[in-house]
Amino acid sequence: MVLEHRNLSEIQEVAIVAARLAGQRAIEEMKYTKSSLKNDNELVSQADLICQQIIVDRIKETYPDHGFIGEEGIEGEIFKQRPRSAEAIWWVIDPIDGTNNYIHGILDFSVSIAVMYDGEPIVGVVFDPATDSMFTAVKEGEAQLNRSRIEAGEEELNEFSSVGLDSHFENDVPAGICEIMKRTRFRNLGSTALQFAYVASGALAGSLAFCPKLWDIAAGAFIAEEAGAIVSDWDGKKLFPVDLENYTNQPFKTLIANKKVHAELLELANR
Ligand code: IPD
Ligand code: CA
Ligand code: CA
Repeated sequence: MVLEHRNLSEIQEVAIVAARLAGQRAIEEMKYTKSSLKNDNELVSQADLICQQIIVDRIKETYPDHGFIGEEGIEGEIFKQRPRSAEAIWWVIDPIDGTNNYIHGILDFSVSIAVMYDGEPIVGVVFDPATDSMFTAVKEGEAQLNRSRIEAGEEELNEFSSVGLDSHFENDVPAGICEIMKRTRFRNLGSTALQFAYVASGALAGSLAFCPKLWDIAAGAFIAEEAGAIVSDWDGKKLFPVDLENYTNQPFKTLIANKKVHAELLELANR
């Protein structure tokens, strides 16, 4: 398949509409939605499922043969439908990234949608409905926030620079993470996708995630990369391409940072 720019722009517009529809619905549902335990350490709300369905339905109206990987499947499984066309295009969806915030009535959450081809993102959308912020990127296009170009910053690491970290650690906090906490004004917004989008806009110098899943990272990582940030795992290696056919829920230790601080954060993270 030849992914022409016109096709990519159309795909991006569908992603934007789907993210906006889901985000608006999430806000409407916020006061009323019921939550439950999804597994030992994750909560899920009814709104997660409703919003994922809204996104999938909207995409299928235009692209009935595309494939899907979504966070919310049946009985704790992921939602996966393989592409039925020769062009193996996959939509990777996190309908509410920041469910823990959402359930507690905290407005920091986002809708994350990536479109992937040959295991690589080609379109990314992260929508923060509370602030009406639509972060987007398209391959061979540019990274944008509300249709205006954004670029990752050049801020050095110091006591004023903000670095996004994870919100929870199963055991001890790694030594390197403690060091980053001491040296910077660290942040956790409760939404990995949103933190990566803020690296893209230069608001955060970098952001690290310990065990995110594909739907947490694909859109935000792509937007940040298109904005000039460096995207890698904690060994400094590339995250993509990903074997989407066989993807279930493997984690990706991820580090995204502006060009000035990526190497330093990589060294700190591995201390
Ligand atoms: C979570 C958020 C959070 C991260 C968790 C993720 P969810 O996603 O990205 O920032 O710390 O590891 O599971 O469950 O709200 O979609
Ligand atoms: Ca998520
Ligand atoms: Ca989610």
